Amino acid sequence: MQQKKVHIMTFGCQMNVSDSEKITALLRTIDYEPVASIGEADMVIVNTCSVRAKAEERIYGILLTMKGELKNNPDLLIGVGGCVAQQEGERLLKKIPHLGFVFGTHNLHLLPQIVRQAETGKRTCETAFIDDGSRFDLSPDYDSGLAITRSITIMQGCDNFCSYCIVPYVRGREVSRQKSDILEEIQKVSAGGVREVTLLGQNVNSYGTKSGDGSDFARLIRDVAKIPGIERIRFMTSHPKDLSAPLVECYSDVEKLCSHIHLPVQSGSDRILALMNRGYTRSDYIGKIEKLKLIRRDLLVTSDIIVGFPGETEEDFQDSLSLMTTVGYSDTYSFVYSPRPETKAAKMPDNASKGEKSERLKRLFALQKNLTKSVHDSYVGKRVEVLVEGESKKTGQVYGRTSGNRTVNFSGSSSLIGTLQRPLIIKNLQNSLLGELE
Ligand code: 5AD
Ligand code: SF4
Repeated sequence: MQQKKVHIMTFGCQMNVSDSEKITALLRTIDYEPVASIGEADMVIVNTCSVRAKAEERIYGILLTMKGELKNNPDLLIGVGGCVAQQEGERLLKKIPHLGFVFGTHNLHLLPQIVRQAETGKRTCETAFIDDGSRFDLSPDYDSGLAITRSITIMQGCDNFCSYCIVPYVRGREVSRQKSDILEEIQKVSAGGVREVTLLGQNVNSYGTKSGDGSDFARLIRDVAKIPGIERIRFMTSHPKDLSAPLVECYSDVEKLCSHIHLPVQSGSDRILALMNRGYTRSDYIGKIEKLKLIRRDLLVTSDIIVGFPGETEEDFQDSLSLMTTVGYSDTYSFVYSPRPETKAAKMPDNASKGEKSERLKRLFALQKNLTKSVHDSYVGKRVEVLVEGESKKTGQVYGRTSGNRTVNFSGSSSLIGTLQRPLIIKNLQNSLLGELE
């Protein structure tokens, strides 16, 4: 069989990045080699995100511009996967005649046969939810080489149904992966040079509670910490309502667990949190952060905040700003609320104008810039531990992250990659830190 070439475009979250690696590995089994540009490709796969309308619109834009590519390469096969594929299904095939195939979030393992059919001109759409955990058996693409850090999927799906969120509809119910499989994969990647793992899932702290072998998330972290070669453990994303006492406890005695937690609050207003169906109050949230910070004094916290949820008043928004200051986030990922199909919030009355919402978002960004600055300033003059991940763009420098997940560039050679170093932080560069080794 002649080797063909595939170009994979990935949008959205870490789960999509991880799925794209699995897609690469699967396509290798049918003789497709990954390439970096569409120009060289026989097939393009667009792995999509539909969490906000803009992300979805962008996908349609990209698919339409691919018509141009077809002029240069009429045999180019185009496939769409991920959350937009799950949401739109057959509609995508109808709307975009030059699209070859569509596969949903639970159908990755069917790709080899879908592609083979598409090669003969048969346009397939597979979007059925398959909840037996078989999609976890897919191995990532080891052939492209392993980085120092790596995400490991431990669960998929979400049962929370936050009123704004499309994820439960496009990713389906929560399914946890077997612990033995997770540990085996981490042992393997550790032997291949990985030093830091991020345990990945839409809602990691409900790991094992609904399926799998009943192990809880805290116990999983403790078992991962025992794997030789793994120096650091992170996780993404956790839900404040499920942040359990055993998990908090891990921060006191699992040294490899990094001093960072991404704990999306979404809003600082109790009224909005209730409308969002988040299951906690502002003071529950702050209480949990305080507990964590008592245990880990250097803990850095990041968050997601939605601006302009239906009915959000200036006062509600002020509550979000004041919560940001109270917590002192090192970073927040914030977007204007975007109504999504099927979600409850999409039917809620919404009075604030687009202009008002984007003006609120600007104010939030300005506040976050100051908060990040004070976090970074507090590092200057101190030595911090950095896991070196690679060479910086600037020659003679390497980069890595602190346990609190801040990026540091410092002078050093590629021989440091994969090691823990303690550079002296000499400058706050706003988005990162500059350090020096002796
Ligand atoms: N509008 C805006 N932001 C959203 N998010 C999820 N759904 C929406 C929406 N409809 C944000 C949340 C979530 C992050 C992944 O995306 O903040 O934590
Ligand atoms: Fe969406 Fe809420 Fe589930 Fe996160 S926890 S994926 S915001 S429904």
